[in-house]
Amino acid sequence: MISIKRVLTLLTLLFCTHSFADITPVIAKQGMVVSEQRVATQVGVDILRAGGNAIDAAIAVGYALAVTYPCCGNIGGGGFMTIHLADGKNIFINFREKAPLRATSTLFQDSADTETTDDITQSYLSVAVPGTVLGFETALNKYGTFTREQVMAPAIKLAKEGYVVTPYDAKWFGVYAEDLARDPYVASIFLKNGKPYQAGEKIIQTDLAATLQLISNHGAQAFYKGSIAKDIVSASEKEGGILSLADFEQYNVEELAPITCSYKGYQIISSAPPSSGGITLCEMLNILSNLPISSSRYHQTQDINYILEAMRYAYRDRNEKLGDPNFIDNPIAELLSSDYAKKISKNIKAKRFVDTTIEKDVKELSDTTHYSIIDNKGNAVSVTYTLNGFFGSKLIAKPTGFFLNDEMDDFATKAGVPNRFGLIQHDANNIQPGKRPLSSMTPTIVLKDGKVKMVLGSPGGPRIITSVLLTLLNVIDEDMNIKEAVDASRYHFQGNPNFVDIEPLAFSFALQKNLHYLGYRLLPQGTWGAVEAIYIDHNGNFLGANDRRRPDGAALGY
Ligand code: GLY
Repeated sequence: MISIKRVLTLLTLLFCTHSFADITPVIAKQGMVVSEQRVATQVGVDILRAGGNAIDAAIAVGYALAVTYPCCGNIGGGGFMTIHLADGKNIFINFREKAPLRATSTLFQDSADTETTDDITQSYLSVAVPGTVLGFETALNKYGTFTREQVMAPAIKLAKEGYVVTPYDAKWFGVYAEDLARDPYVASIFLKNGKPYQAGEKIIQTDLAATLQLISNHGAQAFYKGSIAKDIVSASEKEGGILSLADFEQYNVEELAPITCSYKGYQIISSAPPSSGGITLCEMLNILSNLPISSSRYHQTQDINYILEAMRYAYRDRNEKLGDPNFIDNPIAELLSSDYAKKISKNIKAKRFVDTTIEKDVKELSDTTHYSIIDNKGNAVSVTYTLNGFFGSKLIAKPTGFFLNDEMDDFATKAGVPNRFGLIQHDANNIQPGKRPLSSMTPTIVLKDGKVKMVLGSPGGPRIITSVLLTLLNVIDEDMNIKEAVDASRYHFQGNPNFVDIEPLAFSFALQKNLHYLGYRLLPQGTWGAVEAIYIDHNGNFLGANDRRRPDGAALGY
């Protein structure tokens, strides 16, 4: 019999989302890949079908996205990979970029100690040492079963022979046409006769194909100790950057223990510092475990009030206390202790009305990209990687053919000054030579009774963590299927700026009025990240969900 909870969920979806798209997940038995680009998803499925494991497929998809999703997929950036192996082991691979050795804490400040914003996102000074190629090589060597040549071949083919631009790609090529026109080399690849590529047209990336071929032939050392590093350093030197060959030679990848916590019988395995994702997610879940969240929270003022306050506390801790563990002590045990969660939830219950101070509005982007994979051997992989902004720094060192990140903006370039995401951070995340900037990426795997239940993550800067949180709550508390959970409207609150970002129509008018009465300022926002997720049902079926917000992505299985 259909429960009241389910009826409410369906009504919520009907009236509170701005799409009436299909809410049925894709079902498969043997393997499932979900990414923001259909052609890259297909590459992953082909590897699984050919007998590769989820790690092999993850590397193949990562390289394919570097070709077919140039805004966000990358070899010029970095990220994180959360792995659950068939033998039960949970692994977290940190391939986050590092600040150049010549970077200083005042790199983006002038002599008057004022922040100079121009260089933070669009110059060689904004480029941190990329980690993706060594990250992929480390994961493949340790946990993969295919050769580097096998997993890179599809990406090389797509670069050489071209990929067809999707309507969503075309939208972003249009939006960023001016940026892509700034440098003639970038324009020669990503503009067609000076105009943005249109949907249906093909982009051929000959230089990128040659770069990928070099990596395929010689491994990560071609990138870090060979001509690729030399080309980047030489371009950086010409343009006033501070990257050096030593930065590339010394770059390293780390295998770390993931952050774990439990919520209502589910075990959450997520990102460890230098990402704030796992800690912030777990802090919010721990707080919410102590609060009576009802089953129809899209309608209940009190539930939304509790969730928003859990977000506020967790982001405050994120921004003040977290950073690269090689440079600072992250108070993980304290932030994730049950006493701490109980104390915060008591405060939340005691104080319903909220602080109404208003700070400056900051625009949010849906950059970065996430993909989720599961195989028929019991392995699951969750990867989020990024160039930071769309097309990163918008710079490509000739003749490498790939965009370089602008990840230096994820540092607190000056304590107390907001970055592009409006995050006001402190000294724990200041710039130091060789340090990794604090991230919000949250590649997550959820277990139930030791078995994989969900694989998920999202792009979206700081909104990544709340997108993962809401998707989990939608499944665990709301009984939504994974596609409904991913597609349901979202909201995000990071305390500072003191606005609650909401997707248009996320809340009913009555709920909006009640939240205003409590002191929240709601700010409708149109651009949100795409959660790419897999759920494993009680029969062992893989249910894949590509976010409706990224219609050119796909969940495909076999
Ligand atoms: N560049 C966005 C993040 O790592 O959170």
